[in-house]
Amino acid sequence: MTIAADTSTLRDEIAARLITARARTQGLTDCVDEADLIRQHSPLMSPLVWDLAHVANQEELWLLRGVGGRDPIHPEIDPLYDAFEHPRAKRPALPLLPPAQARGYASDVRGRVLDLLERVSFSTGPLVDQGFVFGMIAQHEQQHDETMLATHQLRRGSPVLTAPPPGPAPADVLRLPAEVLVPGGPFTMGTSTEPWALDNERPAHDIDLLPFCLDTTPVTNAAYIEFIADGGYFEERLWNPAGWEHRHQADLTAPLFWEQGGAGQWLRRRFGVSEPVPPAEPVMHVSWYEADAYARWAGRRLPTEAEWEKAARFDPESGRSRRYPWGDDDPTPARANLGQRHLQPAPAGSYPEGAAPCGARQLIGDVWEWTASDFLPYPGFASYPYKEYSEVFFGPDYKVLRGGAFSADPVACRGTFRNWDYPIRRQIFAGFRTARDADLV
Ligand code: AVJ
Ligand code: FE
Repeated sequence: MTIAADTSTLRDEIAARLITARARTQGLTDCVDEADLIRQHSPLMSPLVWDLAHVANQEELWLLRGVGGRDPIHPEIDPLYDAFEHPRAKRPALPLLPPAQARGYASDVRGRVLDLLERVSFSTGPLVDQGFVFGMIAQHEQQHDETMLATHQLRRGSPVLTAPPPGPAPADVLRLPAEVLVPGGPFTMGTSTEPWALDNERPAHDIDLLPFCLDTTPVTNAAYIEFIADGGYFEERLWNPAGWEHRHQADLTAPLFWEQGGAGQWLRRRFGVSEPVPPAEPVMHVSWYEADAYARWAGRRLPTEAEWEKAARFDPESGRSRRYPWGDDDPTPARANLGQRHLQPAPAGSYPEGAAPCGARQLIGDVWEWTASDFLPYPGFASYPYKEYSEVFFGPDYKVLRGGAFSADPVACRGTFRNWDYPIRRQIFAGFRTARDADLV
């Protein structure tokens, strides 16, 4: 998100980002009936109607009450939509706002926010500086839109979502090297200047890395099928001990949503449609444990989070870190598969215009990429504006994912953006790429 220097352009940009998010929220909730909105499609997910009112409640809390100083509209509902009060599995049993009321509440809040936005000053402190808290709320809604898309992927029943497929891979994919070299030395990780960067992306700090090699593209379905066919799920030595235990307990033998068709063919279910697994597409719906085992099978390893970010941002010519692999300009459809324009990743090697200086492609968009790293604070981290966004999740329980997927919106995706989840999670739109130490000469 490039932030405009003048206030009226900033207001317009904030309004546009909020409106884009709401259009997506509506697209994901208007396409199913009432029963479907209140049903829990998986114990991992909230009912869609919870996400809808939660998004509105956060918007009311931070913008209307926080920035605007207004009184609560429905104070009694706050605890229902506090993610820390009720785990996802318990949310369907709560006295949630029914769909019509949830929609009414969301549009009521939004109308008042757009009024507030016309009058607000952006110079009263850090919360509103450069529109930060408005950007945080636009990102929050888009993050829930991505979560709602994952709910749709888990949902059984007739398909309700469609989108055009991404284009074919460019002609040069056959000539792409399997891996690229990222030079050793220091680079700047994180940011202190990106206006809408969230607390866990801050502050900028220098990290010195040894040279390493990184897959040019995310690991494909075809490559992953070789791992399966080679018995990768049955070889204990390939697995992290906790992963091996989980693999047995959960009986993992293939990515989530895959099933064996006839004649050795793999099929997958994608938003309610069964289709052959496309070999050239990045593999998706694998846990961190599966990604880690695949990497070991390939004689490689997952990249650390710092390695991922250096590959995505470091410009060896200037020595500085860019906002995105391709430079400092915002994402476009030619650079990255983002924003639910397509409901699947593009073939590996797509988006040459989005390549990083090191030559790696699709670092932004297509699939979230598991990294080797635990979700930890950067040196100098300070939680802002609330501990429950990042700080309460720091520690060894969560692994970091980078880069964003087709499901993520540009407003909530950048070279510094950090996502995290449990290493067993598979319903998210996550794949991975592998790395190795470079040969030292
Ligand atoms: C950053 C995607 C892990 O969905 O749990 C939404 C984002 N935080 N509401 C999540 C978030 C609060 C968060 N992730
Ligand atoms: Fe939330």
